[in-house]
Amino acid sequence: MKITVVGAGAVGATCADNIARRELAEELVLVDIKEGFAEGKALDISQTSSLCGFDTRVIGVTNDYSKTANSDVCVITSGIPRKPGMTREELIGTNAKIVEGVCKSLLEYSPNAIIVVISNPMDTMTYLALKSTGLPKNRIIGMGGILDSARFKTYLQKELNCSQNDLHAVVIGGHGDTTMIPLTRLATINGTPVSNMLSADTLKQVAADTMVGGATLTKLLGTSAWYAPGAAGAALVESIVRNERKVFPCCVYLDGEYGQKDICMGVPVVIGKNGWEQIIDYKLNAEEQEAFNKSAEAVRNMNNVLETMAAQ
Ligand code: 2OP
Repeated sequence: MKITVVGAGAVGATCADNIARRELAEELVLVDIKEGFAEGKALDISQTSSLCGFDTRVIGVTNDYSKTANSDVCVITSGIPRKPGMTREELIGTNAKIVEGVCKSLLEYSPNAIIVVISNPMDTMTYLALKSTGLPKNRIIGMGGILDSARFKTYLQKELNCSQNDLHAVVIGGHGDTTMIPLTRLATINGTPVSNMLSADTLKQVAADTMVGGATLTKLLGTSAWYAPGAAGAALVESIVRNERKVFPCCVYLDGEYGQKDICMGVPVVIGKNGWEQIIDYKLNAEEQEAFNKSAEAVRNMNNVLETMAAQ
């Protein structure tokens, strides 16, 4: 297996570090446009090899996509991150150009790769990656819901004082502060609904905290988070390269599923060696479906900005 991570910033490097530690590939290439930056991060990660007990070879390159040739999975983290007070959506102008260019360069050398998009605004960047490359829909996956679900579990764990690993909790919809939908009704601890243990008000607060999970961190850190986004990216890559067929909420192209068409949004999907393989229907109730439709409207408005930009 060969994996490429584009963007050696905090999210990209953390994702690469997780991929190396889990030995998800024989070779891992880290790419960045800043001279020497990816080389430095790759060397630093390589020097943890004997300490952490992995044998993945980690290589860093400055914009040299020939070194990424024949990658099985490529993760795109490039672009500018959020500053405090910024929404993910405000990044669109800068990041759209970057993501489109990166996709083109990657596919030139790895025409069969599965592409994982982490760059923000992630739902729109995933849609852009799909439309600009014309790849089969199952090979383009946006990473947002796994991260949001991990944050959901963290807030639930605080209230329940339990192991996060006993929790099943999923966030669907867009990966935006107002577009994501923590599915509190379906959240369980070892199969028991968490609503049996938490009041409706507490659950509402947990959902609200989850939705602004990224913004809370951006405020604390002065830039967007990296440990959980990087680890979430690696978890997605792991399910692909090990063909685990895990069900993760991921941003994928909808063609009528969940009542939406021609849009990329977060829904539960089976992740395996072919990318996303199947959409799972969680049978939303009326309230959840309404929230999903509203979320789709916001994502669609953002996607329309791409067309306006292209026309300029
Ligand atoms: C986040 O939510 C970076 O979008 C990512 O932290």
